[in-house]
Amino acid sequence: MNEVIRTILNRRSIRSYLPDPIPQETMNTVIQAGLAAPSAMNQQSWHFVVLQGAGAQRYRNYCIEKLGRDPYYGAPAMILVFAKKDAIAPICDGSLAIGNILLSATSLGLGCCWIHCVNDLFKDGIHAEEWGVPEGYRPVGSVALGFSDGPVPEAKPRADRTVTMVEA
Ligand SMILES: Cc1cc2nc3c(=O)[nH]c(=O)nc-3n(C[C@H](O)[C@H](O)[C@H](O)COP(=O)(O)O)c2cc1C
Repeated sequence: MNEVIRTILNRRSIRSYLPDPIPQETMNTVIQAGLAAPSAMNQQSWHFVVLQGAGAQRYRNYCIEKLGRDPYYGAPAMILVFAKKDAIAPICDGSLAIGNILLSATSLGLGCCWIHCVNDLFKDGIHAEEWGVPEGYRPVGSVALGFSDGPVPEAKPRADRTVTMVEA
C-alpha cells in the first residue's frame, strides 16, 4: 500500500484538539494542497479564509453566540471555503478543495474535520466581505484543523451495497 492510499484510509474526523498552533509551514502546505484541487474548466472558483490565533478565536466566539456551542471542537485553526456562485460547479470545486485539505492535513500529522455550519452562518454574507471574500461567493464548507487531543478514532464501518460492478 502506498502513502497516499494509507493516508486516505487512515483519515478520520477529529473532534477534540490541543490548543497548540499549527506551524506556518505546515499550514502553507495544506493551503497549497487545497489550491491544487481540480476544478470545472479550471475555474478555481474557490476562496479560502484561513483563521488562526486571535482571528480564529473571534470567529469561534461568533459561532458560540449564534449556535450556543463551538462547532470547531476547540481547534486552533479553521479554513472556510467559499466558491463563486456563478461558476460552473462551485460546490464540486469547493468540496474537492476541502477533500485535498483534509487529506494533506492528515498526511502531515494534523487532525481535521469537515464542519458544515458555515452554510448557515454565512447565509447573509455576514463576515465574508470583511475577510476579503469577493462579492458573489457562497460558503461550501469548512475545516477544523489542529493537533488531535487523543487517539485517532476507529474507522466507522462502510455501508454495504454502495458499489455496483458491471462487467458484462
Ligand atoms: C459534507 C459534510 C459535512 C460534515 N459536517 C460535519 C459537522 O458539521 N460536524 C462534524 O463533527 N462532522 C461533520 N462531518 C464529518 C462526518 O460526520 C464524518 O466524515 C463521518 O461521520 C465519517 O467519519 P470519518 O470522517 O471519520 O470517516 C461532515 C462531513 C461531510 C462530508
